[in-house]
Amino acid sequence: MITDIYYFSGTGNSLYIARELHNRIPDSRLIPIAALLNRRSKKTNKNIKATAKTNGIVFPCHGLTIPIPVKKFLRYLDLTSSEYLFAIATRGGTIFHGFEAIDKILHNQGTRLDASFIINMAMNDPKLKSFTIPSTKELYTLEKIIQTKLNLIQDTVINHKSYHDNINGVTFSRFNSLNYILERIVPFAVHHISPKVKKYFYTDSKCTGCGICEKVCLSEKIKIVNDRPIWQKNKTCYMCYACLNYCPTQSIQIYSKFYMKSFTEEKERYSHPYALVKDIVIQKLDPTTH
Ligand SMILES: Cc1cc2nc3c(=O)[nH]c(=O)nc-3n(C[C@H](O)[C@H](O)[C@H](O)COP(=O)(O)O)c2cc1C
Repeated sequence: MITDIYYFSGTGNSLYIARELHNRIPDSRLIPIAALLNRRSKKTNKNIKATAKTNGIVFPCHGLTIPIPVKKFLRYLDLTSSEYLFAIATRGGTIFHGFEAIDKILHNQGTRLDASFIINMAMNDPKLKSFTIPSTKELYTLEKIIQTKLNLIQDTVINHKSYHDNINGVTFSRFNSLNYILERIVPFAVHHISPKVKKYFYTDSKCTGCGICEKVCLSEKIKIVNDRPIWQKNKTCYMCYACLNYCPTQSIQIYSKFYMKSFTEEKERYSHPYALVKDIVIQKLDPTTH
C-alpha cells in the first residue's frame, strides 16, 4: 500500500523528518508541496488529487499555525481516495494551533486528521530575541528525542492508528487573556501582514549577487535584477526564511518598520545540518523526478 508524504521545508528540519519517514515506511513517496503549488495553473483551477490510500503532510510551524503554502495546498487537495491522513509539524517550541486549522479545512471534505504529531527542532527564525544556534551537543540530544518520536510515528502510520500529540508549548505570558489575544494576532500577522509589508526583507552591502536566494525561494518571489535580489510584489512570500538562512554572506536582513531597524544584523543563521541549498531547491522541481 503506497504512502504519500507531502512536505514543505524552508531550512531542512521538516525535510529531514519527511526523508527519515520515507526511509522507514515501505512503498512511500516524497512529494514537495512547493512544486505542486507553483505548477498548479490558476486558470484551470484544478484540485490536486491524492492518489495514495495513506497520506501525510510534514511542515514547519509558522506563527503558531500552518505555513501559508500548506494552507493553500490543503484547500486544493482532493482526499476522496484517502483512507488515512496524518500531519507532522516541526517547531521551535511554542504552542501550536495548526492541527485545528487543518481540521477546519478538511471539514469541508467531510474528513479529519487521523493522527497528528509535533516534533521540537531547532528554531530557524533569527529575528527572535531568544534565537541561538544549537551546539553539536544540543543537536545530538535533540536527535535522540527525534528518533524516538519517529519510532512512534512509524508504528502509528504503518498500523493506521489514531494518535494526537499534545499541542502545548511556550506561550506568551502568564495571563490567559493576553495569550488568547496574542495567539490570534500572531498567525494573522504571519499570514496576512508580513507577506505584504513593502520592505520586509532587504540586502545590505555584503550582497554579492550570487543568486542563491533566488534559487532557494520556494514561492518564486525573488528575482535577481542587476545582481541584486528583488522581492516581486505580485508573488506571495511563503515566509519560509530560506533566503535569509541560506545567504552565504548573511546579507539578507529583516527590517522592522515599527522599530525602524534591522532585526537580524549581528544574528547567526540556521539550516539543518543535512540540508544543503540543493536539498531546498529540489522542492521546486517536478515531483515525478524525486
Ligand atoms: C516565519 C516563521 C515563523 C515561525 N513561527 C514559529 C512559531 O510560532 N512557533 C515555533 O515553535 N516555531 C516557529 N518557527 C520555527 C520553525 O517552525 C522551526 O524552526 C521549524 O522546524 C523549521 O522547519 P523547516 O526547516 O522545515 O522550515 C517559525 C519560523 C519561521 C521562519
